[in-house]
Amino acid sequence: MYLLLWNAGVLGVLIPQVLGMKINYDGDQVLQIIPQHEDQVLCLQHICRSSQLDLWKPLQPEDINVRRVVHVRIPFVALQSVKEAMLQCSLSFKILVDNLSQLIANEEATRRRRRRTISDYDYTTYHPMEDIYEWMNLMAEKHSDLVTQHNLGSTYESNSMKYLKISKPSNSSKKIIWMDCGIHAREWIAPAFCQWFVKEIVQNHEKDSQIQRILKNIDLYVLPVLNIDGYIYTWTTERLWRKSRSKHENGTCYGVDLNRNYDVKWCSLGSSTNCTSNIYCGVSPVSEPETKAVVNFVEMRKSEIICFLTMHSYSQYILTAYGYSMDLPQSYYETIKVAAMAAAELKKKHGTVYKVGSFANLLYEASGTSQDWVHDQGIEFSYTIELRDNGTYQFILPENQIQPTCEETMAGVMTIINYVNNKYFPNQASTSCRNPNLYVLISTLLTIVLLK
Ligand code: ARG
Ligand code: ZN
Repeated sequence: MYLLLWNAGVLGVLIPQVLGMKINYDGDQVLQIIPQHEDQVLCLQHICRSSQLDLWKPLQPEDINVRRVVHVRIPFVALQSVKEAMLQCSLSFKILVDNLSQLIANEEATRRRRRRTISDYDYTTYHPMEDIYEWMNLMAEKHSDLVTQHNLGSTYESNSMKYLKISKPSNSSKKIIWMDCGIHAREWIAPAFCQWFVKEIVQNHEKDSQIQRILKNIDLYVLPVLNIDGYIYTWTTERLWRKSRSKHENGTCYGVDLNRNYDVKWCSLGSSTNCTSNIYCGVSPVSEPETKAVVNFVEMRKSEIICFLTMHSYSQYILTAYGYSMDLPQSYYETIKVAAMAAAELKKKHGTVYKVGSFANLLYEASGTSQDWVHDQGIEFSYTIELRDNGTYQFILPENQIQPTCEETMAGVMTIINYVNNKYFPNQASTSCRNPNLYVLISTLLTIVLLK
């Protein structure tokens, strides 16, 4: 034990993980900085690099730009020196989070007791992985006519990647809409949304005619937590962990950014070959079992999948291809129109404003994302959705925002799904004015009648 402590002490930062303890963020602050000219950009980049700061927005110093918002976590021990260094180059900053551990403590304090049955499962609280596994079991048990549980594969730490399939029996061949949540471990609102989404569909499919029309043609596949190892780690050890938990370079560093690991311009932009980086792309494309599982599924079911949604936080964006280039794909004209329709519907719920655009144009350039890989497999309706918020709480979105976030996201997502359904199954389109087909038919008939 003494030896272990000594060893860990030498490595400094490893202590809590080595001892299986939780990392605390006591006194850490999150600052917002908007550099106003090139000198300040260079200065801020230098500070981030030399103090090895945990950049949240953007994710690496290279992507810091003039008049673009920067969010960065400063450990308590570095606060004074970092702030002094910023003042030296006249960088002003705003304190977004005054004490990160307080924010996380609040999150823990408000988390109510976990529930054990489906009828009183609490969708307005965050749940650890064991709850989510149990919730999936119960969902499939209680709604066996509609929901089945399947296994996509295994994670690095041998957790099974369970997903739910929502499907109504049918004689005709159906299409697939895919949704995954939690590819990034700390973005807890995403898994919360996946669960909310399943609940809404299950609860309303009998009374909601739009859901009925969708389920006639489409099966919904929902993977509530893609990066299960990372998600568990955010609960046990490090709330702000982003990557998976695979071991690299003899255990000197852990985890791959699973959203940089796909075989699409792999590791060329906005990713890193350094395994300590938060945007580490892995040793090779599709090196990670979690990526392999998704890739196998998509390759096998390519011809059936008509829409792919991957849920993240934060930024309030609906993003289309590409991340790997500033260029826009052929599909952009249509996919951005649908994204704008979704953002408009989303806003109607609680007034939350979302931006729409391509991944690289709105967020940052990044190669190897699942969105782009799937898009280039021929599935054009491939979206990354960045949920709340806009920087006030970042990854620690308070639980009292789960419900409004899920309600508005539901409206946005259903707009996309509905559009895709109407596009691929035009004959069964609704009579609502959002769908012109029947109107065109009626007015054509009327014209013919009137002309006679
Ligand atoms: N979910 C985002 C990602 O995939 C991070 C969002 C926060 N960072 C930001 N640049 N807005 O990397
Ligand atoms: Zn993310």
